[in-house]
Amino acid sequence: MDKNVIFYFSGTGNCLDIARNIAKGIGGARLIRIRDGATVSNLSTAEKVGFVFPCYGGGAPEDVLKFAGRLKINPRSYTFGITSCSAYAGTGLAKLNMMIPLKYWGVITHHCSCIWLFPHKLMMPLLTIGEAQVRSEELAQNMAKDIAKGVVKSKKPPMNLFNVFENMLWPAIAKKKVEAFSVSDKCIACGQCVKLCPRGNIKVENGRAVIGKNCSQCLGCLQFCPESAISIGSITDRREHYHNPHVIASDLVDCRIGDHV
Ligand SMILES: Cc1cc2nc3c(=O)[nH]c(=O)nc-3n(C[C@H](O)[C@H](O)[C@H](O)COP(=O)(O)O)c2cc1C
Repeated sequence: MDKNVIFYFSGTGNCLDIARNIAKGIGGARLIRIRDGATVSNLSTAEKVGFVFPCYGGGAPEDVLKFAGRLKINPRSYTFGITSCSAYAGTGLAKLNMMIPLKYWGVITHHCSCIWLFPHKLMMPLLTIGEAQVRSEELAQNMAKDIAKGVVKSKKPPMNLFNVFENMLWPAIAKKKVEAFSVSDKCIACGQCVKLCPRGNIKVENGRAVIGKNCSQCLGCLQFCPESAISIGSITDRREHYHNPHVIASDLVDCRIGDHV
């Protein structure tokens, strides 16, 4: 039984890094990556249960809300949610709060993982990777202090109408992007993307990665590809790839259900 449990969803590592920093700041936690096959047997004795996830298209990744919907959390547990985004929180925390009332929530901006939309440095405020990382760590440390003390936020997470609308349009936009994935002959069939994919949506066939239609849009496959063999249209080849400076692909691949930090 774990005292503290943090569930995280992460494509390029910002949320894993934040989850680690929160875990350190609250005296340790079991970190569980939200991915296919991730299950939790018993949360009944957890004192603190947290969620760290990115904003996608003005909301939470679908997998986060689906996963949260399956959890049984003790009403006496202290619950918190943190969203990482490049510019704005979106509706993810508010939607999670409707399913699992959150005692505490926070927003941490970092470099943008949505390579087909923006270059990664287009974040708010405009910072270099190093500066953004320092800021993310400081914010996570401060939030961890609050969480350790059991601070309860009286203000509800934001539900901005623009983001509600944006998030309604998001599935159609994401579907188009999924159709635009391609794998070039630079692919060496290393299989890293297969292991990274949180939905098991990638396989290697005839010496090349093949990406299916069941994509969560986390972009970990594309951003971490050692050969830059994965693209979405031509724009992603012209842009520098990004992942969190403290996270390497194997951190996400090798995470076991229940890594302790
Ligand atoms: C498909 C996709 C959609 C995104 N949509 C938004 C958005 O609507 N607003 C925003 O501020 N950031 C958006 N982002 C940026 C991520 O939320 C941000 O870079 C986050 O830190 C990534 O976390 P990760 O490294 O743990 O995957 C998006 C990223 C992706 C991949």
